[in-house]
Amino acid sequence: MEKQRLDKIIASTGKFSRREVKLLVRQGRVLVDGLPARSGEDKVDPQSVEITVNGETLCYRKFTWVMLNKPAGYLSATEDGRGPTVLDLLPPELKKQGLFPVGRLDKDTEGLLLLTNEGGLAHDLLSPRHHVDKVYYTRVAGRLTEEDCRAFAAGMTLDDGLVCQPAGLKILKAGEESEAHVTLREGKFHQVKRMLAFRGKPVLYLERVQMGNLTLDPALARGEFRLLTENEEATLRKI
Ligand code: URA
Repeated sequence: MEKQRLDKIIASTGKFSRREVKLLVRQGRVLVDGLPARSGEDKVDPQSVEITVNGETLCYRKFTWVMLNKPAGYLSATEDGRGPTVLDLLPPELKKQGLFPVGRLDKDTEGLLLLTNEGGLAHDLLSPRHHVDKVYYTRVAGRLTEEDCRAFAAGMTLDDGLVCQPAGLKILKAGEESEAHVTLREGKFHQVKRMLAFRGKPVLYLERVQMGNLTLDPALARGEFRLLTENEEATLRKI
């Protein structure tokens, strides 16, 4: 693999800024193959040397995968003049890595959003061919019924002509306002909201809680993010 600057490699983990790396190097807390690094500007091949920071071995990965707990009010885009984007929730070290959201959540939708700079796998995750289930928690106006569940399971054609593949609707609570989990394999524009509006139960709140085998980490508060673990990344690659 091509050699890269040490400070860039360490900052790519999202744990330290380049400025912090500089300080750590100066304090002798960055080792390359067991020897203290001289400068953050030194170039090394991250796949053929062992880098340790504060005694911990750095696990270098070619691509970056981030799990974000998206709050309402942010656009799923890299740049948009109309308001803040999900990239604004990341520190500069991660922002610089060319990350983009894997699919879109509406501005008012919260929850699990992945960001990456690995185009191929991101594309596969979104492709209906790969059958990656997306699970949403929703609160709607009106009483959800077994008939709604059957309509979801059968697949519906909405008034505006949108043909929806069979989807899951699991009622969690039925009342004047109801709660449910919706499972989709596709991701058409505003799809959950449109399907539920078609059933006469407009969405009051929407949150994505799962994508494939990845569940939203309960330790992440709204607006917080973390890198995917190696295991989680491997799970995504299995699709
Ligand atoms: N369906 C919607 O209606 N909105 C989202 O943000 C995601 C799925």
